[in-house]
Parts: sequence; structure tokens; C-alpha cells
Amino acid sequence: MSEAASNPNAWTTAITEIKPNHVAVRGYDIAQLMGRISFGQAVYLILRGELPTPEVGRLMDAMLVASIDHGATPPSALAARTVASTGASLSAAVASGIMSINTHHGGAIENCARALAEVVETHKGGDEWDDAAAHVLDRLKAQGQRMAGFGHRYHTADPRTARLFELAAQAGVGGEFFDAARAVERCFAAAGKPLPINVDGAIGVILAQLGFEFEVMNGLFMIARTPGLVAHVREEQSRMKPMRKIDPAAHSYDGPPGRSLRT
Ligand SMILES: CC(C)(COP(=O)(O)OP(=O)(O)OC[C@H]1O[C@@H](n2cnc3c(N)ncnc32)[C@H](O)[C@@H]1OP(=O)(O)O)[C@@H](O)C(=O)NCCC(=O)NCCS
Repeated sequence: MSEAASNPNAWTTAITEIKPNHVAVRGYDIAQLMGRISFGQAVYLILRGELPTPEVGRLMDAMLVASIDHGATPPSALAARTVASTGASLSAAVASGIMSINTHHGGAIENCARALAEVVETHKGGDEWDDAAAHVLDRLKAQGQRMAGFGHRYHTADPRTARLFELAAQAGVGGEFFDAARAVERCFAAAGKPLPINVDGAIGVILAQLGFEFEVMNGLFMIARTPGLVAHVREEQSRMKPMRKIDPAAHSYDGPPGRSLRT
């Protein structure tokens, strides 16, 4: 009799089955997946329970690559470096970076998707796309909230966003959430405040269109940004003085010069 059957307190999980000499993620033997599917496909599998098509897997990989790092100034990198500079462990420093992923940083993915879902619903209720977008933007403004996933501190035409939408088109991913995002962009422009969709917004649009649940969406950013945070913490620990004063603006890049992939 299995432990689950004999123990009245046993609970169940549908994610990964572990038996002696056997590991199966969502039913797939992990050794069979290894070397055959990409990390993006594996992330989709573990979050959704099914493997994506190869095209959607490529899109998942692109979203993970797009979010891997954004230099030393994002709050998560600063938090991780600050904690690392106190002598904290790698895990503590990286965890502090993850903890700073919230509504205004990284966490815009979920809120963007939720707001766009409201635009979609309003459109389905009979409003033209632009009227539906204006309705939602007015509601947010009246509540003192911003439209998540739009605007950027640095970029006016974020290269990541354009590439993600290109790859989404190649994967045949499009539809009402894309229409809603375009309507929001038009509304901002019409109001004389052009605020382009940012990378969080683009990921929110794609994940919503792919049918991800809202609650898991910011997790994709956390999964993607963790390697970048590990790199920042290790650089802080290995190159910087302990407990230095970290001025976010007073830094420059001294890594490899721009280079291209061989095509
Ligand atoms: C990312 C962000 C903080 C950058 O802001 P910024 O370029 O520094 O701009 P500011 O915060 O100075 O805002 C400038 C104006 O644009 C408005 N604005 C900026 N982003 C806005 C948004 N997403 N929705 C509504 N209004 C916005 C501000 O209200 C402000 O208006 P005002 O001049 O009438 O006061 C901002 O665009 C934002 O909050 N976006 C939503 C959250 C988000 O997507 N975060 C992820 C970033 S990758």
C-alpha cells in the first residue's frame, strides 16, 4: 500500500512524481525531456501541465531571455546588490531581489493582463476597442492607478517588445489581448501622452493570449530574472567593497563591447 493510501493525512500533488530511480514532470520522464525540450518549454509544462507547441516554446524562451537582466538600476538588482554588500549569502541576496519584484517592477505583467482583460470584456459588451480602452484608463485614473505595462523610464521604443510581438506573430499567437493593447496605446497617444507598451506589458499580452492564469504571470518574470540577479550578486561579492554606498546612477558598463551572434 502506498504511503498516500495508508496515511490519512497524506496530501496530493500533480506536478512531479518521484519514485525510486524515477522522476516524471507532469507525467513526462525527466531524462526523456532533458536535451529534447528547451527551458521555455519546460517552464510552460510545469506551469500549465502540458507541453507547448514548438513555436510557443520558442516564444516562452524569448520571454525568458528578454527578462534575464536590465542592468544595475532596476530595484531588484539594487536590492540584491545592497543585501550582498552586507556580507549576506547568495541565497539571501538573490531572495531580496526577488522580493522587490512587485506591482511597479516585474509585477506589471499580471496587472497589465488584468486591465487588458477588462478592456476585452468592455469591448465584448459592445464598445469599440478605443472606447473600451478609454473606459478602463479613465477608471484607473479615477482610482489614482497607472496602466500597468505601459511607459518606461529609459526606452521609448523597447527593442524587446518589438521582437516579442514579431515572435508571437511567427508562432501564430494573436487576438483580443493584442487588440486591447493596441487600443490602449492609441488612447494614450490621442491624449497627447504617448506611452508605448513595455516589455512587462508585452509579456502580459502574450501570456494572457496563451491562456495563462493571471496569478502565475509575474512568476515568469521571477523565473527569468533570477540568473541576472545571481550575476549581480556574484559581481557585487567579487568586485566591490563591503557595505559600499551604492549610487544607482553613478555606474558605467565595462563588459565586452557590442558583439553579434553568428547567423
Ligand atoms: C515605468 C514607469 C514607472 C516609468 O515612468 P516615468 O517614465 O519615470 O514617468 P513618470 O513616473 O515621471 O510619469 C510621467 C507622466 O506619465 C504618466 N504615466 C507614466 N506611465 C503611466 C502609465 N503606465 N499609466 C498612466 N500614466 C502613466 C504619469 O502619471 C505622469 O503623468 P503627469 O506628468 O501628468 O504626472 C511608469 O511608466 C509606470 O508606472 N508604468 C506602469 C508600471 C510598469 O509598467 N512597470 C514596468 C516597467 S518595465
